Amino acid sequence: MSLVHETDYGTPVSKSSEMVTLTIDGQPVTVPAGTSIMRAAMDIGTKVPKLCATDSVDAFGSCRLCLVEIQGRPGTPASCTTPVGAGMVVSTQTERLKQIRKGVMELYISDHPLDCLTCAANGDCELQDMAGAVGLRDVRYGYDGENHTKQEKDESNPYFTFDPSKCIVCSRCVRACEEVQGTFALTIQGRGFDSKVSAGMAEPFVDSECVSCGACVQACPTATLSEKSLIEIGQPEHSVVTTCAYCGVGCSFKAEMRGEELVRMVPYKDGKANRGHSCVKGRFAWGYANHRERILKPMIRETIDQPWREVTWEVAINRVASEFKRLQAKHGRLAIGGITSSRCTNEETYLVQKLVRGGFGNNNVDTCARVCHSPTGYGLRTAFGTSAGTQDFDSVEHTDVVLIIGANPTDAHPVFASRMKKRLRQGAKLIVIDPRRIDMVRMPHIEAQYHLPLRPGTNAAMLNAIAHVIVTEGLVNEKFVRDYCDLDAFEHWASFVAEPQNSPETVGLMTGVSAESIRGAARLYASGKNSAIYYGLGVTEHSQGTTAVMALANLAMATGNLGREGVGVNPLRGQNNVQGSCDMGSFPHELSGYRHISDDATRTMFEKLWGRPLDAEPGLRIPNMFDAAIDGTFKGIYVQGEDILQSDPNTKHVQAALAAMECVVVQDLFLNETANYAHIFLPGSTFLEKDGTFTNAERRINRVRKVMTPKNGMADWEITLAIAKAMGFEMPYSHPSEVMDEIARLTPTFAGVSFDLLDKVGSVQWPCNEKAPLGTPVMHIGGFARGKGNFMITEYVPTDEKVGPRFPLLLTTGRILSQYNVGAQTRRTDNVVWHEEDVLEIHPHDAEERGVRDGDWVKLDSRAGGTTLRARITDRVAPGVVYTTFHHPNTQANVVTTEFSDWATNCPEYKVTAVQVSPSNGPSEWQREYNEQAEHSRRIAKVAAE
Ligand code: SF4
Ligand code: SF4
Ligand code: SF4
Ligand code: FES
Repeated sequence: MSLVHETDYGTPVSKSSEMVTLTIDGQPVTVPAGTSIMRAAMDIGTKVPKLCATDSVDAFGSCRLCLVEIQGRPGTPASCTTPVGAGMVVSTQTERLKQIRKGVMELYISDHPLDCLTCAANGDCELQDMAGAVGLRDVRYGYDGENHTKQEKDESNPYFTFDPSKCIVCSRCVRACEEVQGTFALTIQGRGFDSKVSAGMAEPFVDSECVSCGACVQACPTATLSEKSLIEIGQPEHSVVTTCAYCGVGCSFKAEMRGEELVRMVPYKDGKANRGHSCVKGRFAWGYANHRERILKPMIRETIDQPWREVTWEVAINRVASEFKRLQAKHGRLAIGGITSSRCTNEETYLVQKLVRGGFGNNNVDTCARVCHSPTGYGLRTAFGTSAGTQDFDSVEHTDVVLIIGANPTDAHPVFASRMKKRLRQGAKLIVIDPRRIDMVRMPHIEAQYHLPLRPGTNAAMLNAIAHVIVTEGLVNEKFVRDYCDLDAFEHWASFVAEPQNSPETVGLMTGVSAESIRGAARLYASGKNSAIYYGLGVTEHSQGTTAVMALANLAMATGNLGREGVGVNPLRGQNNVQGSCDMGSFPHELSGYRHISDDATRTMFEKLWGRPLDAEPGLRIPNMFDAAIDGTFKGIYVQGEDILQSDPNTKHVQAALAAMECVVVQDLFLNETANYAHIFLPGSTFLEKDGTFTNAERRINRVRKVMTPKNGMADWEITLAIAKAMGFEMPYSHPSEVMDEIARLTPTFAGVSFDLLDKVGSVQWPCNEKAPLGTPVMHIGGFARGKGNFMITEYVPTDEKVGPRFPLLLTTGRILSQYNVGAQTRRTDNVVWHEEDVLEIHPHDAEERGVRDGDWVKLDSRAGGTTLRARITDRVAPGVVYTTFHHPNTQANVVTTEFSDWATNCPEYKVTAVQVSPSNGPSEWQREYNEQAEHSRRIAKVAAE
C-alpha cells in the first residue's frame, strides 16, 4: 500500500461547454474556455511551478512563481490567473522564466526557517518542492536580513498549530476559509513585509470564528498550518480511502497511516459528496477509537446490579444464544428482538435484520431511524414512490431558491452547508423556516430573504399556508401537474389548501409569523427558476412529522420543482448510515428495498435464499418493544450500536422497559447509558476497523475500508455472524462484499451494486441496476417512481402537547457542530473544548421573568420529567421557546421529552415539549444519583478491563 496522491491542478475546473485549443511548449491542448493556462498545462503533463495556487480555490496571482511567456504578449503573465485563449502559444520553460522563478524562490527561502530536516512537513512541503523544481542552490541575499522566523506559534486549536514563522503569505488559507468553508475567519493583516495571516481580530484560533474544518490546513503549502497528530507521529507512509462515520453527508477521506497508527484524515478530493472538504468531526474527531474507556473484551453479568465479568468471545456469544433461546422457549418466539444501527455499515445492518427474521423467527427489528427520519420514508414514498431524497448534493449548484425548514445545516451537515453557502453567495435566495435563528439566517455574505420563526409544532399549518398562496395566487406549475401528477388528487388538495383556515392570515395567528412574510416566502419559492427544499429533524420529529413531509412533497409537485438538477425535496439525514439502515430492511414491516414483509412473492424470494420460513406479520417497533417489555411479553433485545436510553424519548419509560427485560445485549464501543441495563456487553469495532458501505443522504453508497485491525478482535459484522451461528442459523460469509452481493441479488434498487463497482467508480447512488448501471443522481426525471405524483391532504392537527400555566414554554432540541448525537464519540475527543455541556437557550424576556441570568443553573421540567442545566440568554429563540442540545448524558434532555409521536411512524415528538424553567442551585438529586451510578459502572468496567 502507498499514499494516495491526488493531483493539484492549480486552479478549479472550468464548467464551460465551449472548448478552446492552444499550444503549450509546442504541444496542442484543448480545454474548456475559462481554464487557466496552468491547468491546461497540467493536461499535457507540464507542471508549472506554483505556490499561491491550488485547485480548491480561485487563483490569486500573488507568488509570481508560475509566470509564463505568451507569444505576442508583453511581460510574463501568471499562468494561474490567465485564462486560455484560442490559438495562444505559451512557453512555460524559457531561460528568462527560470531566472525569475529562482529569484522569487530566493526571496521566500531567505525569510524561512531552515529547519527542513526537523520540520513536520519534511517530504510533503510545496515550498521545499518548488525550491527543487526551480533548481535553487543558493540564496544570494543570505538569511540574516529582517525576517519573520522568530514569530510565536499559536497552539490554541486542539488539532492544528499555526506557526507564522513558516508562513509565505500566499493566502491559500484565507481563500479556503472563504471559498471552501464560507466562514471568513481569516484575514491577511498589514501590508508588504508586515503582512500576516490572522484569525478573527488577531485572536488565538480557538477564540476566533474558526470552526476547525481544516480547509486552511489542507490548503497550506508549508508547515505553517499543520495537524498536531502529524507533528507528533510523523509523515504517513500509506493511505486508504474511506468514509466518515459521523453524519449523513458521507464525506470521503484518505485515512493516512503509519503502520497501524492513524496519522490524519484528509478529505478526498474525488469524494463525490464532499469534493475535498470536511468538518471538525470527520477530519479531527477520531481519537475516540483509541480512548481508554473503549471496551475491548466481551463482558457478562447475571443481573444489572452486579459488576461486569470479562469473558472470552466464545463464552459471550454462547451466553447470548442460550439466553435468547431460553427466553423464546419460555415466553414464545416473539419475546425477543433486535435494533440495527445507523452508525454501522449496510452489510452489518442487513445481517442484524437477517438474524432477527431468520434466526429469531420474527420481525421484531427496528432502527434508530424510527426516532429521526421514519416520516421521511413514509411521506416521500406515499408522494413519489421512493423513500429517499430526490437529488444529489451537486444539485445545489443549480438552485436559485433554497428553502431550509427544520434543519440547521452549518451545525448538523456542515460540509453540505458550505456548498449551500457558496451557492447563496453566488446569488441564490434563501428562505429559512425554523423557530430558532439558525446561523444560515445571517452570516458573512449571506442573509435569508425570509426567516419564518414559527412556533414549534406548527410546520404543517405553515406549509399549508404556503400552498394556499401558491394555489390562490395562480403560482401552480400547471403543465408539470398535468404531465406528471395524479390530477384528481391535485384538485382535491388544491381545494383543501385554498380553504380559509389555510390562509396566511389565519395561519399567521397560529404560527406567530406575519401573513406578509408567509406570502413573500411562498411567492419566492414558487417563482424561483429552480427551488429546492432541504429539511431535517425539525420537520420529522413531530406528531405530524409525516404530514409535514407530505406537505413539502406537495409544494415541490405543485411548483414543478422535481425531476431535474437544482430542485427537489431533500432530507438532510442525521447519522452516517441512516439512509442505508432503512434501505437494508431494518423496519419491522419491510424487507430491503422497502418491500412489505406481507408481500408473498418478496418474502418467498428471501425464504428461498436464507433457507428459513419468514413471518408475514410485521414485528414490533422500538416504542412497542418498550411497552411490551413493561407488559412482560418482550424479554430480550440485541442492540447494535445505538444508545437507546440516551437517544429515545421519555428516558424513565425506556429505563423501566430495559429493567424489565431478562437479557439485554449491547454491542458498542463504550459502556453507554443503555449498557447500565445490559447483561451482556459485546465490544464493537470502529469504522476504521472494518469493510463495508455507508449510504448517505443523497442515496450515495460509499465504501468504508478497513485501515487497521479491530482492537476488539472482531468487526461488528463478524459478531452478528457468530451470534447467528450459535443460534443455529448459519450465515456463511467470509467478507462484507459477499453480503453486498446478496443484498444486490435480493433488492432491485441495489441490483447493480458490488464492491468491485464501487472500487472502480468511487460511489453510486441507488437505484443502481440494469436501467441505471452507474446509479441515479437525480430521481423522478420524466415521471415519478410510483407513476403519477400523489398529492396528499395535510390537514393541520395541533399536537396534544400544549403549553399551559404549569408548563408555559415550548422546548425544542437540536445539535451543535462539534458534538455528535448522544456524544459517545465526540465527547471522547478534544471537541469538548467547544461544548463541554448542554445548555438551555432562553429569550431575555423569559429569563428576566424568571430571574434567570446568563450562566445560571436552571431546572427544566415537563410532565415527563426534569433535568438541570445552565441557561444561555439569547434572542436566537423567540419568547416562549427554549432550546437545548442532547449530547451529554449528565443532562439527559430526553428525560423531559414526552411519549407523543408521529401518527404514521411513531417517530417521537422531540421537537415540541411544554416545559417550565425555574432557577436552580445545580444538578438535581436524580441527576446526581444518575451521574454517580454511571460513574460507578464505568469504574467497574475499567477495573474489569485492567
Ligand atoms: S479551520 Fe476552517 S474555519 Fe478555521 S480558519 Fe481554517 S478554514 Fe477557516
Ligand atoms: S498559513 Fe499557509 S496557506 Fe496561509 S498564507 Fe501562510 S503559508 Fe499560505
Ligand atoms: S460533514 Fe458529516 S460526513 Fe462530513 S466530515 Fe463532517 S461529520 Fe463527517
Ligand atoms: S501560483 Fe500563480 S502567482 Fe502564485
